[in-house]
Amino acid sequence: DKGEYRHYMLKEIYEQPQVIRNVLEGRIHHGHVLEQVFGSDASAVFDQVKAVQIVACGTSYNAGVVARYWIEKLVGIPCMVEVASEFRYRKTVCMPGTLFITLSQSGETADTLSALREAKEQDYVAFLSICNVAGSSLVRESDLAIMTNAGPEIGVASTKAFTSQLVVLMLTTLVLGRRYGLEGEADFVAQLEQLAGLTEQVLTLDSQIQKMAEHFVDKHHALFLGRGTIYPVAVEGALKLKEISYIHAEAYPAGELKHGPLALVDEDMPVVAVAPNNSLLEKLQANLEEVRARGGKLFLFADSKAQVKPGDDLELITLPDVPTVMAPIIYSIPLQLLAYYVAVLKGTDVDQPRNLAKSVTVE
Ligand code: F6R
Repeated sequence: DKGEYRHYMLKEIYEQPQVIRNVLEGRIHHGHVLEQVFGSDASAVFDQVKAVQIVACGTSYNAGVVARYWIEKLVGIPCMVEVASEFRYRKTVCMPGTLFITLSQSGETADTLSALREAKEQDYVAFLSICNVAGSSLVRESDLAIMTNAGPEIGVASTKAFTSQLVVLMLTTLVLGRRYGLEGEADFVAQLEQLAGLTEQVLTLDSQIQKMAEHFVDKHHALFLGRGTIYPVAVEGALKLKEISYIHAEAYPAGELKHGPLALVDEDMPVVAVAPNNSLLEKLQANLEEVRARGGKLFLFADSKAQVKPGDDLELITLPDVPTVMAPIIYSIPLQLLAYYVAVLKGTDVDQPRNLAKSVTVE
């Protein structure tokens, strides 16, 4: 039931504060992530992990890319991420001590399931499924599983499933990190506990984002930029926009601009930049000035730390300050809303975009 909401997608976007609370419920205790929530023998498995291989499709893959940044930074072990349709068909090499993680909302995605089955022929430490559907094929065929507890997701474009995956991936990062000397677990847990409240604050930007969406209705293309952990957030924002508004959107790590895509920038190419305060902010700001110097219009999501010259070529949405590590979770939300409102203005079928199915159980 959509309740007061016009579409399931909007309802699911708005459920995210509660979903984040649900994900954390029973998984943390006194500033500590509980390991047994991954499975009764999870601790013994995690003790052996020296590297991580993540496999997933679409939005779930984008969550996996965020996790790679987290795991390599906070745990300090190698983390590889690959789309399942590639992984399953190529000869892969398993490093000793690698934990294999599948990420999936449905747990029935054919390519992800086949990748898991292929990987079982190799010497992985264990197979962990991070999934939103208990009893799904992926969960049944994995040694360890943790549910994302997002509740049923009806809109074809994934929203709350994505944020719930990110929260679980952060829990995973913390349980691995404690084996490699990660300090301040209680601080990270406290930051996770702040997320639901921050998400509520970000949702109050709704009408500003709705207004921003008007600029996209007559556009055929859009560029999304981010750096570091925010790069996969930009990729996910672009995916949302193309799926439901049918606008061709592409994401680039902002540092790649001058290696090609800058040639595309003109007044018909809106550039969405996602710029929370982090060590890359200054570099990103320089990238954004390059865009403006070429006549591109900028749509910027940033916090109070961003320093950009005001102008007619800039639309700015200011988010609350958020802990740097958690920024990918928070900054995904305004991009979901942007895609949603562009699609509504264009009059597309938001919950059932053309040519797409909710669960891709065929190859
Ligand atoms: C995009 C979207 C898809 C799915 C992908 C994987 O909004 O929903 O890209 O993320 O088909 O699906 P799951 O997560 O069910 O394996």
